[in-house]
Amino acid sequence: MEATEILKMNKQRWEVSAERFFGRTALPEYGPFTLSELELQLFGSICGKKVLDIGCGSGHSLQYMGKEGAKELWGLDLCTKQIETAKSVLKNQQAEVKLIESPMEENPGLPIGYFDMVYSIYALGWTTDLSRTFSHIYDYLKPGGTFVFSWEHPLHDRLKYEESSFTFNKSYVIEGPEYNEGWHNLAVIHHRKLSTYINAMIDAGFVLEKVIDDVCLPVEHSKDPSRWYSTQKANLVPATFIIKASKK
Ligand SMILES: C[S@@+](CC[C@H](N)C(=O)[O-])C[C@H]1O[C@@H](n2cnc3c(N)ncnc32)[C@H](O)[C@@H]1O
Repeated sequence: MEATEILKMNKQRWEVSAERFFGRTALPEYGPFTLSELELQLFGSICGKKVLDIGCGSGHSLQYMGKEGAKELWGLDLCTKQIETAKSVLKNQQAEVKLIESPMEENPGLPIGYFDMVYSIYALGWTTDLSRTFSHIYDYLKPGGTFVFSWEHPLHDRLKYEESSFTFNKSYVIEGPEYNEGWHNLAVIHHRKLSTYINAMIDAGFVLEKVIDDVCLPVEHSKDPSRWYSTQKANLVPATFIIKASKK
């Protein structure tokens, strides 16, 4: 399947599913069963900073950045419904807000060498072109700028709960576009190894500062281990990974 077809299909799915995800994966949370920004402090002081959110969704991470004193809040997202929602979520911000509807694979005219911080919370893995996306992000940052992103750990959907136990039912090593079961096979997401993310960042010019795949479990176990995210599964493989890098 061509990248343009995948983008078209994924956009259609996001337009109908956006509401289910409003504010669901947003800072200070990085994703399921991992540490939050409150514990990790990857961004340091946000006060007065120009920030850009890649795959900003409903704008709840940008809202957190605004609360922390960011001076400019920029967001980019493929989905019209998400951008419209982000506009309303961010309407009372003191900071300047700019929201742009675009796939992350393109630069829709964002300024180069401008941002102190670029980040992406559970959105970047949707890209159909990882190298191009990282290369744009590198360009958007000022020298010395910070890039942080989180995404589902690539081991997580390789395991499936069947007949009372988890089985490893998909290859970790074979990469490429896959119809995604979590999306009832109506969206296509590229499976990539963790090393592929790391090496693509290095190739784009980033200096890696931290890779986090710690698992943080609540005291009580999930009622249903077969759910997409369950404590029982997160006890075996991380649900989320986070990478912090900088532009020297
Ligand atoms: C889980 S949501 C992100 C939530 C968001 N980070 C927040 O803080 O609320 C994933 C987002 O990625 C967006 N997305 C998917 N594919 C994309 C692409 N190729 N380019 C830009 N955005 C994309 C979706 O429209 C969706 O809003």
